[in-house]
Amino acid sequence: MRFKVLLPVAALAFTCLTTVALRAQAAPSKTLAETPPMGWNSWNYFAERVDDKGIRAAADQMVATGMKDAGYVYVNIDDTWEAERDANGVLRTNSKFPDMKALADYVHSKGLKIGIYSGPGTKTCGGYAASLGHEEQDAKMYAEWGIDYLKYDLCSFHRDVMEKQAPTDKAAQMKLMVAAYEKMGKALKATGRPIVFSLCQYGWDSVWEWAPALGGNLWRTTGDIDPTWDRMYTILSQQEGLESYAGPGHWNDPDMLEVGNGKLTTAENRTHFSMWAMLAAPLLAGNDLPNMKPDVKAILTNRDVIAIDQDRLGKQGRRVYSDGEVDVWERNLAGGAVAIAVLNAGSDRYVTHPFHLDLAKLGLHGAQTGKDLWTGKTVELTENMPLELASHDILLVRVESPK
Ligand code: GLA
Repeated sequence: MRFKVLLPVAALAFTCLTTVALRAQAAPSKTLAETPPMGWNSWNYFAERVDDKGIRAAADQMVATGMKDAGYVYVNIDDTWEAERDANGVLRTNSKFPDMKALADYVHSKGLKIGIYSGPGTKTCGGYAASLGHEEQDAKMYAEWGIDYLKYDLCSFHRDVMEKQAPTDKAAQMKLMVAAYEKMGKALKATGRPIVFSLCQYGWDSVWEWAPALGGNLWRTTGDIDPTWDRMYTILSQQEGLESYAGPGHWNDPDMLEVGNGKLTTAENRTHFSMWAMLAAPLLAGNDLPNMKPDVKAILTNRDVIAIDQDRLGKQGRRVYSDGEVDVWERNLAGGAVAIAVLNAGSDRYVTHPFHLDLAKLGLHGAQTGKDLWTGKTVELTENMPLELASHDILLVRVESPK
């Protein structure tokens, strides 16, 4: 058993009717990225091995595995699709992507959307051609292909422009960077096609303060993730204090999911996914979809956890307190509900020295009835209750009517 509630579990029969009713109420809206974007991106698992066939396979698997039904929409091509520009400045695709329009049509035929990658410099991070001096041209081409999402990665712009034009003036460098993102934001808007604009510049110059004004729907808040507990947990800890910047149409992006990658254990995958949902983070899976293991699929398609991420209030969760290596996070949800996450970043908390939950610190008064979103069972949270949490595991509870 991954965690134990040591006080008696309330014998209330669980009902998910309230959750279902909340979902049904969500009115259709035209705001782009009204809730954090959900999809899959090629980079974290396939990196430069991405090609047309792989993107089609990912789209097929999004449907076959039930990910599409669970809410995943975007199939995003990351770096390494680019060749060189022709005499007219038109960026060609390389041999891995023979016909981008046909690929976009294929992804759309599955009821999904498609994303692409570029950057404001001469080169992408992988050393492929990027958009400097061709912003409008590239944006138009994406729109003609039917692209729905652009990840725009700073990379060589730092070397090509910022360091060249303002070698000793950091503030001037940052202004150049903001202007470059503004330029692409305008170019995308001018196409008339709704294209989600994802800023990838690792959180420089407090991007969360200026990205929404230039049309950014999400912005990376840190450097790259990798499929290790330490990196995931470091990034998670760096999100503290950013909660007020997230909201419908504009989201903090702690980077794409590593669920199912590397040597992350089931508990670690569960915690990673839970916490990205608590953060109202974009949920962009980055695993090998055609070979997805059942436990990974169960995590990525847990609808109760996805409902936390996609909650229509769009309020990012916050760390309320830590006790040693146990962190307690809370997220306010639509209709007055709350989600509570208790995460053990350290070693096991055995029955001999369990963690004691302090409900008062969460602004809650007395016993709370909720749903454990990983077991599906009704739980009663009581003041000072002892919890036995396995290392790197999490207790994630939704309380519909907190007191
Ligand atoms: C950067 C980004 C990654 C990925 C690679 C591709 O490192 O942060 O997410 O897009 O570039 O080269």
